Amino acid sequence: MKRLVVLVSGTGTLLQALLDAEASGTLEAQVVGVVSDQPDAGGLARADKAGVPTAVVPFVRGTDRDAWDVALADTVDAFRPDLVVGAGFMKLLGAAFLDRFPGRIINSHPALLPSFPGVHGVRDALAYGVKVTGASVFVVDEGVDTGRILAQEPVRVRPDDTEESLHERVKVVERQMLVDVVRAWPDNRAS
Ligand code: GRF
Repeated sequence: MKRLVVLVSGTGTLLQALLDAEASGTLEAQVVGVVSDQPDAGGLARADKAGVPTAVVPFVRGTDRDAWDVALADTVDAFRPDLVVGAGFMKLLGAAFLDRFPGRIINSHPALLPSFPGVHGVRDALAYGVKVTGASVFVVDEGVDTGRILAQEPVRVRPDDTEESLHERVKVVERQMLVDVVRAWPDNRAS
């Protein structure tokens, strides 16, 4: 059974998709821990409700960035993950974290990479005026949303779309894609 640690910063609906798939038996994996940089992240409450242990590693402005990466890596490592899943985690993962879980960190991004990387993928796509955007699941590397792409799905942009309405339709696609990628992830992959 694949052990998953999920990183969240916000509402956690992508995490919820993984929890629901696990609970319904459609995903042979176990979310063994949920970790956030935000003490009040909604994803933590979702984990609590599902009986999944949580941890918070707050990023206090001015703290040493590398020390935070080490603390985050230690916290995640304690759950003994096979796979680390970024699900709305809004911090870049530094070398100390990446080196701890080489090739075993995936992330979901609400745009068709390499287009519109970064924290405002939906807003940037809308502002650019693309007619089709979408979502990407990729293996996290040292860049900003630059890792090996594992899956992508298109989402049409509607003329009356706002950032919120478009992002919600993209999230619908992300939730299913993330479950599918985790399901396909080989068991006990070394790295
Ligand atoms: C997702 O669109 C994810 O790609 C982006 O933040 C959103 C998280 O949504 N990084 P939620 O918190 O899981 O609802």
